[in-house]
Amino acid sequence: MQGIFITFEGMDGGGKSTQLHLAAEALRSQGCQVITTREPGGTSLAEAVRRLVLDPDAPLTNTTQTLLFLAARSEHVNKIILPALKAGKIVLCDRFADSTFVYQGLANSCSPEHLEKLRQLNAFAAENLQPALTLLFDGSPEALLSRRNLRGVTDRFEKQGTDFQEKLRQGFLQLAQAEPDRIKIINAEPEQEAVFAQVMDCIRQIL
Ligand code: TYD
Repeated sequence: MQGIFITFEGMDGGGKSTQLHLAAEALRSQGCQVITTREPGGTSLAEAVRRLVLDPDAPLTNTTQTLLFLAARSEHVNKIILPALKAGKIVLCDRFADSTFVYQGLANSCSPEHLEKLRQLNAFAAENLQPALTLLFDGSPEALLSRRNLRGVTDRFEKQGTDFQEKLRQGFLQLAQAEPDRIKIINAEPEQEAVFAQVMDCIRQIL
């Protein structure tokens, strides 16, 4: 039996992590076997990488960051995601490869050749694993960041401000346009319940 791999993507503060846990609860209450996980993270090594790359006081080059995210992904895919999928579970993952293509690629105005290189490196790190469905939480950076700031969280990426968030938004939308069957856009601006209804609609369509 094969499971289903679903990723939650978008710029910072889109509320995707909350929605991921709400979706997991709803699916479990329907009798589905679900695991929730996140990137970078999921294994002890990947969590250590997370602390390193998200530390605002330890600047890394874009290449170093990329390779660390991919090393964390390789661990995560092999030790957590693939075994869960093989056991027939639904895997809900907070961020995955699209974040790399956007944060380490498109938002840094990378060339098409650089993006292609990222795709190849990612395929190697992720054992060619692709999500069956990706939910892209989209909204204006101002609306989403004001929500995030209420939580008082600041990491290296969030310190880059709303211009950078707008680049992230455009990067994610570009990916969604290229793969409309896999990447579904969720309007993340309304109230939590309205966002959740969109999330469950999309998930139901692939179950
Ligand atoms: P996190 O606190 O999980 O952010 P959020 O709650 O917004 O998901 O931190 C993850 C950060 O790492 C986020 O800013 C995006 C960034 N990131 C990359 O730059 N590249 C990647 O490949 C991944 C997975 C995350």
